[in-house]
Amino acid sequence: MSESENVIRLYYKNVTADVVGPDHGLTEDELNEAREQIRQIVPDIEEERSRGEHRYRDLPYDEEMLRRVQAACDARRQGCETLVVCGIGGSALGNIALQTALNPYTYNLLPPAKRGGPRLFVMDNVDPMQFGALLDLIEDDLDSTLFNVISKSGETAETAAQFLIVRDMLKQRLGPSGPKDKILVTTDAAKGTMRQIVDAEGYESLSVPDGVGGRFSVLSAVGLFSAGMCGIDVAGLLKGAAAMDERVKVPTLDENPAALIAAIHTQMYHRNKRLHVMMPYSYHLKDLADWYRQLWAESLGKQKSKFKMGVFVGPTPINALGATDQHSQVQLYREGPNDKVFTLLAVERFDRQVSIPAADAVVDDMSYLGEQEMGTLLNNERIATEQALITSKRPTLSIRFPSITAETVGQFIYLYEAATTIAGRLLGINAYDQPAVELGKQYTFALMGRTGFEDTAKELRAKLGDVGKYLV
Ligand code: PA5
Repeated sequence: MSESENVIRLYYKNVTADVVGPDHGLTEDELNEAREQIRQIVPDIEEERSRGEHRYRDLPYDEEMLRRVQAACDARRQGCETLVVCGIGGSALGNIALQTALNPYTYNLLPPAKRGGPRLFVMDNVDPMQFGALLDLIEDDLDSTLFNVISKSGETAETAAQFLIVRDMLKQRLGPSGPKDKILVTTDAAKGTMRQIVDAEGYESLSVPDGVGGRFSVLSAVGLFSAGMCGIDVAGLLKGAAAMDERVKVPTLDENPAALIAAIHTQMYHRNKRLHVMMPYSYHLKDLADWYRQLWAESLGKQKSKFKMGVFVGPTPINALGATDQHSQVQLYREGPNDKVFTLLAVERFDRQVSIPAADAVVDDMSYLGEQEMGTLLNNERIATEQALITSKRPTLSIRFPSITAETVGQFIYLYEAATTIAGRLLGINAYDQPAVELGKQYTFALMGRTGFEDTAKELRAKLGDVGKYLV
């Protein structure tokens, strides 16, 4: 395949007034307004990059980071049969998305010789039944297990709890050096509790570059180490991202897919289409839609504008899966309120073909399916859903993957990260902070008895005092 063919494309005709009508589609005037804005915003972002802002944009070119990740993978792969990632939010969703996108559905169940690396479990919760079941599974195989504890801040309670449990178990089972041999930490290069623990206990570590926030960190050591361990082409991911960088730097709306995604969704938001559904027609892309859900929500849902005015802005991203959700959500999507923008992810060539056999007399009513590929059925279902949505005047974008490779996945990740930055600019908010997540973290510290949070704990106990009165 030539380089130019290995490129994901955005198709946006079906969000225009020409297709879904002026009440639901964008008019030429609206697109012209966006053209003006993008002519200003994209060069501004590029100029800010040259001053050290938007650091995630430079990850595809960070050769030293890639070298360190690859060296860590080379050193750790031998003898490692299970890799457990302990992390949450931006320190887990990208890892899950890469694994689902680029390794087989059955990866963890394959015999070691048929996998590209260890089994992978990404533990992004503190559910005792889930985590306990994992501990039960691996407790007798700790010699061949590696734990990658990921926390950019080094302060997150969920990840800290997992770390403490794992560290203790390793000490009990493998002796005092167990944790040091079996834990690799990915955290800030200098700051945070986790970095202090790394220094005190001598864990091997990888760094999250300064200025790269959690949800923008999948193309750093955060996402690349587990991917590399599991045989994913991490250099290919970065190559794809770098190729997309060239496209999203362009200040012309009509040539810049990130600008189009940002501008279309922002214009639609102002027309009260505030629900943004991403629906891949590929199981392998389903967790990229989950990753997008965090990126879009946590970056764009903000109370205050950049100038500290109350704006309470933010689209609600929703993930769905085709064809599965045709039998779950599409009724609502076509006949419910016209308050959504759809993005279908399409795969032109699936790596694996599964043929449907010819029908015989008994199954004659199914003969229309006979001698066709399953991928053809899935793609025709996507086209059918897209046409049905636009018949109901539902604005619908599509992103077309020629096939699912490390390079096209890298392009997709970078495309949506860049679109998020531009959308933040169009909405007038800071896409990189998450102040609302902090309060929940503080309350958790108080409820768990952390020193310094005694007053908050008292306040919470008072609030929770009459729960029984309203419990039916
Ligand atoms: O995007 C973000 O900043 C968050 O989702 C974080 O990734 C999440 O809260 C986990 O934080 P940390 O990596 O510091 O443990």
